[in-house]
Amino acid sequence: MQQQKIEAARAALAAVRSGMTLGLGTGTTAFEFVKLLGEALREGKLRDIRCTCTSEKTEQQAREENIPTFPLADVSPLDLAVDGADEIDPQLRLIKGRGGALLREKIVEQQARRFIVIADDSKLVDRLGEGVLPVEVTPFAVDVLTKKFADMRLQPVLRLRDGQVRITDEGHRIVDVKVPWSADIADVVARIREHAGVVETGFFEKEATEAIIATMTGLRRMTR
Ligand code: A5P
Repeated sequence: MQQQKIEAARAALAAVRSGMTLGLGTGTTAFEFVKLLGEALREGKLRDIRCTCTSEKTEQQAREENIPTFPLADVSPLDLAVDGADEIDPQLRLIKGRGGALLREKIVEQQARRFIVIADDSKLVDRLGEGVLPVEVTPFAVDVLTKKFADMRLQPVLRLRDGQVRITDEGHRIVDVKVPWSADIADVVARIREHAGVVETGFFEKEATEAIIATMTGLRRMTR
């Protein structure tokens, strides 16, 4: 699995050209991409790359790799964003955010002309919602929204980390919900978004332009 993540990341790096502006994703697969990008810059295979990051964690990794990073507004629109995903359906719709970075990820990836998802084939699903759908909410609303989502039969669970409530890079909370098997995820997301205090969901309906999926037997590419 680790090797597959590296293979997908390597294939995405082949799409990077000197002089590009890039959005760097978050998670274990994006980590491999950032690492390979750092190597390519050090070896002089790429030059004049300007990046922006989707989380504090990736920002720190980019700093350690000596990758030049900038505020999003200074480099957008981005030539390319590269990031992982938790689930990928046949229409290239995604669930993201199980690592907690969904809001900045969506903001950055909507600024990209091209967004390549990198993953191993364990992320492919026929139908989104096999696992949880992360919902980022403001702290003020977290209790009432958790109750509301329970009323909607979405089995909400407040995200914790190390026994403490998880606080996102933007100071929000994450409530993980379960999309009922009989429901359409786009409808459920629309109903979730009706409530004030919901900042964003991990449903990425249109952002990805392509995916590179690493399998045991080679790479599979998906395009929209
Ligand atoms: C971060 O919040 C997520 O959206 C990640 O992009 C997603 O969880 C994929 O992470 P992995 O590459 O670690 O599976």
